[in-house]
Amino acid sequence: MGSVTFDVEAVRAAYPALRDGYAYLDGAAGTQLPEVVIDTVAAAARAGIGNAGGAFPASHRASAITSGCRQAVADLVGGVPDGVILGPNMTTLTYRLAGALAATWRPGDEVVVSRLDHDANVRPWIQAAARAGVTVLWADVDISTGELPAAQYDSLLSDRTRLVAVTAASNILGTRPHVAAISRAAHSVDALTYIDGVHATPHTPVDVRTLGADFYATSAYKWSGPHIGAVIADPALLETLHPDKLASSPDAVPERFELGTPAYADLAGVTAAVDHLASLGGEHYGTRRARLLDSMTAVQEYEGRLFTDLLGGLEAMEHVTLYGKAPSRTATAYFNVAGHTPADVAAYLAGRGVNVWNGHNYAWELTGALGIRDSGGAVRAGLVHYNDRSEVDRLLTGVAELADVR
Ligand SMILES: Cc1ncc(COP(=O)(O)O)c(C=O)c1O
Repeated sequence: MGSVTFDVEAVRAAYPALRDGYAYLDGAAGTQLPEVVIDTVAAAARAGIGNAGGAFPASHRASAITSGCRQAVADLVGGVPDGVILGPNMTTLTYRLAGALAATWRPGDEVVVSRLDHDANVRPWIQAAARAGVTVLWADVDISTGELPAAQYDSLLSDRTRLVAVTAASNILGTRPHVAAISRAAHSVDALTYIDGVHATPHTPVDVRTLGADFYATSAYKWSGPHIGAVIADPALLETLHPDKLASSPDAVPERFELGTPAYADLAGVTAAVDHLASLGGEHYGTRRARLLDSMTAVQEYEGRLFTDLLGGLEAMEHVTLYGKAPSRTATAYFNVAGHTPADVAAYLAGRGVNVWNGHNYAWELTGALGIRDSGGAVRAGLVHYNDRSEVDRLLTGVAELADVR
């Protein structure tokens, strides 16, 4: 109901940080906060927050903030609130889940990781596997395209496979593997899937069931929220796992996976961020889940158009080498400029008011496979919903100038 539109000027006006004059093309590293999220975090603190589980109103507010946040994250990815584990960030939660899952593994079992992934969805599994006597198998990237062919999983999987960890999108090349097909293959041998949705979530509608994600990890600071991570799973699956925890802390699911006292005010901000994402498609109606799907579809289309301009501009420059050309990808460009280190390019662009990242960006295996990890990686320009054409032009102008800078 209602019509879905995408008005980038209205979106940009919601973000106070964008008024500092810089082009924030560093969204893949972390996004800025809209005013409504900043205000919601401040309002939660101002209203008074107690520890959850007490008899007084400030404590009730903490409980309501937490359950509201679980519902919001569930709406964002198509999960259920009782399956939403909240924590400080994806890396911390993934180590936590790796420990809990590894306790169910036996020597000789196998896990499959990929060279497309951010190291946060690789190293926790390798380290847990080493402690449990479990074999690690690798899914490889086609370096000429940046794709992670799903067909290779048929030969990587066996009746000993317990887990397949794979990203829904590469944080440097943007590649979006065929996660649903990989999950189908994993499930055919009764393995679980751990899908890293940190880079994918801000760029596309997400449905954990369509992806076949037994676990789906995301981080709110990549989609206009505070620094909070979440892992979403079926509560029935979580019931089967028993992470290390205090004797005195709740044993219920999902609380049993959450350590210590949460950042309540930030959790309120996460809910505001989800509501903000649901509003990005303009004036449209329906459940928050339905609005999120419409809005994120509009975001994906908008970013796609902007990315075509960005890629076209970079491809036209002879002094630029671009990495990755997967047909399905987010609006994330990774490139090098002849005669300049990635760090120099980022510094030059910063001087032109353009924020980009340089380095391996924790895509440790992938930059190693590309042969650029030890030489400083490359430059990453990542578009999100609040970027506009003038920012893309500013980046392209700066990179073009570098042809004449020695
Ligand atoms: C694809 C991807 N996975 C995982 C992470 C780690 O997320 P967090 O900072 O929440 O631990 C990042 C962060 O950049 C990422 O881009």
